[in-house]
Amino acid sequence: MNGWLAGLLAFVFFAPLAFIYARSFAGRLQAAALARGRSVVATAAPKLVWPAVLGCALALRLSGPDLPEWQLAAGSRTLAAGLSVLWFLGSLAAILFFVVIPFVMGRLLGTLFACMGKFAATRDDPLSFGARGFTREGFGEDGTESTQMGFTVAIDGPAAAGKGTIAKRLAAHYGFAYLDTGLLYRAIGRVASQRGLDLDDGATMGTVALALDPAILDDGSLRGREAGELASRVAVHAPVRAALTEFQRGFARRPGGAVLDGRDIGTVICPEAEAKIFVTASPEVRARRRTDELHAKGRAVDYETILDEVLARDRRDTGRATAPLRAAPDAALLDTSELDIEEAFQAACRIVDASLHRRNGA
Ligand code: CDP
Repeated sequence: MNGWLAGLLAFVFFAPLAFIYARSFAGRLQAAALARGRSVVATAAPKLVWPAVLGCALALRLSGPDLPEWQLAAGSRTLAAGLSVLWFLGSLAAILFFVVIPFVMGRLLGTLFACMGKFAATRDDPLSFGARGFTREGFGEDGTESTQMGFTVAIDGPAAAGKGTIAKRLAAHYGFAYLDTGLLYRAIGRVASQRGLDLDDGATMGTVALALDPAILDDGSLRGREAGELASRVAVHAPVRAALTEFQRGFARRPGGAVLDGRDIGTVICPEAEAKIFVTASPEVRARRRTDELHAKGRAVDYETILDEVLARDRRDTGRATAPLRAAPDAALLDTSELDIEEAFQAACRIVDASLHRRNGA
């Protein structure tokens, strides 16, 4: 067959496969970069080594001379051995041609997409982010005076990654108390804005936090977009975070076990938590879920606006000086980009089960 025609046919076949893989890879890459607080390129580099080796081997194998010629030309035994390995890998890659090409192309393309921040959602299974609920029991003094051994599940992650849904289901499954810590920051933001206070004044916001009336946490409208924006503005202040620390720690150590979700639970509030999960997903998937959730509530919002909000919130939460959003080094990473609620919950259960076994075995 004419070489050009074969190339064209191969391209027509490979390009869609590579594109599909690239979208998925870009999503996972962005989520992992966010979790580790690193750049996309730094996160991608180790993952690109094998595709690069396979790609080079394949190119050499298809276009280069035969093995004996290489070995003769190599000059040194080490170089000859290296070339033999490449030749072997190239032969393998040639056999797996249809798998290798989309894989290599997809990873390179995915990294490019992720760097440009321009990639499509990998899958549109919206997790339910509707009712968060706040377990009022436990928002009292008893939690702070626990003498029995508790078991803390610390769940952190960016907005709309699914952590609230997972946290609530874990709490129900294991019979633990649940605290949505975002609600505390939302309440502070709401109270401060209702009183016309300056949200950028850390000392004033700290005073509001200290005087917070728990009754406000029952206000369902705190789960709205506006309160989320206010929350991320007041959450940057050290006095605000300090005012909430003791309460959260007390809740975490209450007898019978507790699940807390937020941004700094595994890193600052409970570095000693028995189970730590960092729930993440690509910004596009998260924005799609938020948009669907708002549409389901009859709100007219467009995806692009929500995506901008998600990205701005990520920037603010990861870039702040006090307790920035980060995965704790010992946290298990749970990327929900391509998981539905049930799969994400099952994965989280496996992580908690493993921690429970570890503790019981200790
Ligand atoms: O539900 P969603 O993830 O959108 O928001 P949330 O968990 O209610 O948190 C709202 C905002 O509060 C976040 O964007 C953070 O800026 C802040 N927050 C925080 O700084 N630390 C926490 N432990 C929880 C929330």
